[in-house]
Amino acid sequence: MWRIEFLETVDSTQDLVMQRAEEGEPEGLVIHAGHQEKGRGRHGRIWASLPGNLQMSVLLRPQKPINQAVQLSYVVAVSIAAAVDKDFQLKWPNDIYVGGRKCGGVLIEACGGDALAIGIGMNVRSAPDGHACLGEGYEVDAVRDAVLGALAEHYGLWLAEGFEPIRVKWLKNALNLKQMIQFKVHEAVHSGVFAGVGPDGALLLRGDDGTITTFQAGEVLL
Ligand code: BTN
Repeated sequence: MWRIEFLETVDSTQDLVMQRAEEGEPEGLVIHAGHQEKGRGRHGRIWASLPGNLQMSVLLRPQKPINQAVQLSYVVAVSIAAAVDKDFQLKWPNDIYVGGRKCGGVLIEACGGDALAIGIGMNVRSAPDGHACLGEGYEVDAVRDAVLGALAEHYGLWLAEGFEPIRVKWLKNALNLKQMIQFKVHEAVHSGVFAGVGPDGALLLRGDDGTITTFQAGEVLL
C-alpha cells in the first residue's frame, strides 16, 4: 500500500507529507529522507538526524473520528516492535526504548481534513547523546521496509477490529507497567502506579488511595 519517495536532504519529512496531503495526495505516500535540517519531535523538541538513521513520514487518511488518531501511536509502536528483531520496551505512548534508552519516536500531526502525517524516527546506526541505536547488522532501508510491512498489517487490524488487539500487543512490551511513575501534564507532575492503558488509549494512573486517573496526554518522566 506504500508509495515510497526518497529525498537526500529535507527540512522535515512531516512538512512535505502535510503539503502533499493538502494537495489531495491519497494515503500511502511515504517520504523517506537521508537527512533532515529541521527534524522535529514531540513537545517541540528537535529530532537530530544522524548518519544511517531512519527518518520518514507516512500519509494516512483513516476514516475514524479524530480523537482516535492517538491510537495510531500505539499502532506504529507495535509495528516497530513486530518488525525489528530487538528487545524493545515501549514507553507511553509511542517511544521505542532499547536497554533503557530511547531508540525511536513517533510524531503524529493532523493536516486538516482526514489526513495525518505519521513521522517515524529510528536510530538505526547512530545514537544521539543519551539515546540508543539498533547497531551493526541493521540497515536503514531494510528497517524501513520491515516497519512499513508491519505497519500495513497493524493499520489494517486497527481499521477492521479497533484498538483492543493493538492495546493488548502494546502492553506486552510496555515499559514501567505496574511500576511507580511520575507523569507530567503541563507543569503538574502526578505520581502513581502505571496501571495500564484504557480502551481509548488513555494512560491509567493508580494513586495511593487506589483511585484511577486517566490521562489522554502528557509525558512519563524517567
Ligand atoms: C519524538 O519522539 O519526539 C518523535 C520523533 C519523530 C521524528 C520523526 S523523523 C521523521 C519525521 N520528520 C520529523 O521532522 N519528525 C519525524
